Amino acid sequence: MPIRACIFDAYGTLFDVTAAARQAAEEPGRAALAGVWQALARDWRLKQLQYTWLRAITGHHKDFWDVTQDGLDWAMEAQGLGDDAELRERLLALYWELSAYPEVPDMLAALKADGLNTAILSNGSPDMLEGAVTSAGLEALLDDVLSIESVRIFKPSRVVYDMVGKRFGTRPDEVLFVSSNGWDAAAAADYGFTTAWVNRAGEPVDRLPAKPQHILTELSGIPDIARTT
Ligand code: LAC
Repeated sequence: MPIRACIFDAYGTLFDVTAAARQAAEEPGRAALAGVWQALARDWRLKQLQYTWLRAITGHHKDFWDVTQDGLDWAMEAQGLGDDAELRERLLALYWELSAYPEVPDMLAALKADGLNTAILSNGSPDMLEGAVTSAGLEALLDDVLSIESVRIFKPSRVVYDMVGKRFGTRPDEVLFVSSNGWDAAAAADYGFTTAWVNRAGEPVDRLPAKPQHILTELSGIPDIARTT
């Protein structure tokens, strides 16, 4: 079936989640962060994701902004930065207005020119997604921003992927789902979406029940995949 909707994960896919720690490390007076910002960014992301999976499994939901702060607190303590309240506030402020990857506006504009629906489907809470979309100037290029807060369980619950068909009236095989998270791409492929994994870091494919049909190093090739599927 031809693709009718192109659906994107947000954090790490459209928005560069390493940007907050990288930008903070470049600011004056951040010597303690400068040497460890990459490890901090990696631990922050990993703990944030682990907490979403564990909360989904155990039924202890709280929103992604709270989970993001829990992940940051773990990562800062691990790097010996746990007492720096000012740095914590700065990193959270930067996370609220993450930059989009440079190819994102043209890629979304090409999908819109082809008449496709475009949307985000994210663990992010509605207010933090609005902050990121607005600061990146993407409002006019997206038909909707779908937050899992309307079902209150994190990906990869299938209930989350059901949100796409409910919103756009699409069957799974009419959806091109795009994520930089190997586990999210695997779950979406298992659900029945045509799936593209954006593998910027050159990681191995996740050993999970389904594999993404397409693997890219950045997002520019998405409109071609949507046209030729
Ligand atoms: C999201 C996270 C998983 O945007 O990247 O849903």
